[in-house]
Parts: sequence; C-alpha cells; structure tokens
Amino acid sequence: MNTSEIKNIAIIGLGTMGPGIAQAFAQAGYQVTGYDLNPAAAQTCQTIVAGIIENLKEFDLISAEEEKASLGNIAYADSLAEAVREAHIVVEAVSENRDIKRAVYSQVDECAPEDSYLWSNTSTLNIYELAPAKRLANTIIAHWFAPPHIVPLVEVVKDSRVAPSTVETALDLLEKLNKITIVLEKYVPGFVINRIQRNLGREVFFLLDQGYISPEDLDMAIKASIAPRMMVLGLVQRYDFTGLDLSARNLADESFFDPPVDNNPAALASKIERGDLGVKTGRGFFDYSDRDLTEVLKERDRYLLKVLESVRFCLEKKRLV
Ligand SMILES: NC(=O)c1ccc[n+]([C@@H]2O[C@H](COP(=O)([O-])OP(=O)(O)OC[C@H]3O[C@@H](n4cnc5c(N)ncnc54)[C@H](O)[C@@H]3O)[C@@H](O)[C@H]2O)c1
Repeated sequence: MNTSEIKNIAIIGLGTMGPGIAQAFAQAGYQVTGYDLNPAAAQTCQTIVAGIIENLKEFDLISAEEEKASLGNIAYADSLAEAVREAHIVVEAVSENRDIKRAVYSQVDECAPEDSYLWSNTSTLNIYELAPAKRLANTIIAHWFAPPHIVPLVEVVKDSRVAPSTVETALDLLEKLNKITIVLEKYVPGFVINRIQRNLGREVFFLLDQGYISPEDLDMAIKASIAPRMMVLGLVQRYDFTGLDLSARNLADESFFDPPVDNNPAALASKIERGDLGVKTGRGFFDYSDRDLTEVLKERDRYLLKVLESVRFCLEKKRLV
C-alpha cells in the first residue's frame, strides 16, 4: 500500500501521546479512529484536541479548513476490533509494557486488514520481538516526542524483517504531517534521543544529589548555553568548533570523572515517596499546585511553539554552518 492509498488511521491508546498523534493525522486530512481501554479517555482526548487547536490558532499554525478537519476527522470506537477494522495504519500508543503491547498486537493481527501497517510509538521496547512474525514486514517503530503535535522529530527504527516499502511509506507520510524524521538502521534500546537523555539524567541527578547546584540554576545553565548552541550545531558538529584535539583531551582527562551509576537517585526517590510526581500531581522539582494541569500543559505548549517559531530555520537544512 503506498501513501496515496492511506486514508484511515486507528490510534490505540489515548493517554499522554495518543491525542496529539490523533490530532496531527486529523489536521492533515486523515480519518482517525481512536480507542482506549479506559472509557473516559475519548472525552479527555476531545478536550485535549480542542486545547491543541486553540494554541495552534494563536500561532497561525492551523487554517480554518484544518481546524474543521481536526475536529471532524476523529471518531472513537468502543472496541479495538472496531477501531482497526478498516485501518490502513494502526498506531499503537498503549502503555510501555511488553505484555500489554504483545496482547494489543495479537488483537490487531486478528482484526485489522492483512495489508495494514502497524506503527509503534514505543520509547524503548524491541517490538519486533512482540508483534506476530507474519506482520513484521508491515511493522515499524515510529517514535514521536511529547507533545507530539508540536515536537518535530519522529525516530523511525528499522529491523531486517521490515519491508523497505514500509519504511518508505512511513517516512513519506510523516513528511506529509510536517514531521522531521531520522532513521535508525537497527534497534537499540532507547533509540537515539532517549539514550542521550538517559545519560544527561545521570549527570543531572549526580549534580543535584551531591548538592553542587540548585534545580533552578541547573536549568538556567542549560537554557543559557548548550540549548541554543545545539540548535545551530547539534551535538556532533559542535566538536568541529571546540577542536577535535581539545575534545579528545577532555574525554581522556580522568580527573573529569563520570557520575557513578545510580538507578535510584535521592533527588527522585525522596519526591516519589512523598507522592510528588511532577506536573500531574501538582509538584515535582517545582510547584504547580496553584494551577490546573491543562493550564500548565497549555502554557508549556505555547512557549514551545514560540521557541520553534523562531528557530524553524535551524531545521530547514541538516547543517547550517
Ligand atoms: N509520555 C511520553 O512522553 C512518551 C513520549 C514518546 C513515546 N511514548 C510512548 O508512547 C506509548 C504511550 O505512552 P503514554 O505516555 O501515552 O502512556 P499513558 O500511560 O499516558 O497512556 C497509555 C494509554 O494506553 C491505554 N491502554 C492500555 N492498555 C490498552 C489496551 N489493551 N488497549 C487500548 N488502550 C490501552 C491506557 O488506558 C492509557 O490511556 C508508550 O509506548 C510510551 O513509551 C511516551
């Protein structure tokens, strides 16, 4: 099936990621059918999509026609079977759990048309070990980032059993949704960005736990230095400007030790114990308790859109300098 034949998208799982992905497809004119095990998810999804549209309108990123499509193109099904029955693509965005995903793939295999594509939004799992063997040629990891209707990148992760046309169709379609794609030739846990974020996290929690710096100053340090520089030079090209000789010496300098591996850093554990889980509970490293969650998320999205609006030129070419 090529891109022009694709019309119907089923989104399975309408939690944090599903609604934004649904909106992105619907805005581009695709017929979306959402399904979630939790019956309240459909209503929440509608509210989230309405909020997304409001933000996009503020930034002139959605036309009147696209607004109508976003609202009109999303339907909700009462069962997975109903959602995938006529799907050309099934986007799986259910909880990050092997057993849950395996069960969903088995149901998709039973109920979706034989030639439909299966896209997984997994952040870390090797879903090529979980999907039925006969579906693998049409299966692909297409990993979006939160908030999925705003962050441009989708990581596409191949496997030797995936048909080249499945990869091509995914890249083609994601481009139609104005996404920026990168391709990983084979599976590695966490793909590219979550591997890097995990390493950054090790350093963040080391610096916080050892009392070197406050969360506020650490965030400001990043925002006032490497964050904007990364927009211009990425991570790799930056070494050309630092100088490869100096970079090599920095790497070899043993006094500049790596943080010890700590999978239960105190900065996280103490807060989790108190029930402070971040914005969803009103408090994490920072306090959001005076505002409701929707408002906090909307505010984050508005700032993200504002930043992306001004740095869009950085994404137009693979290399700026
Ligand atoms: N949250 C993020 O920032 C983020 C970013 C990128 C990728 N992901 C990945 O996207 C996927 C979804 O993540 P999320 O954060 O939206 O999770 P979530 O927990 O917010 O939502 C998952 C949803 O799946 C539903 N669900 C569970 N089992 C189901 C089933 N059998 N059928 C239908 N629905 C079912 C749940 O009811 C829930 O609403 C995961 O694989 C995750 O790793 C998450």
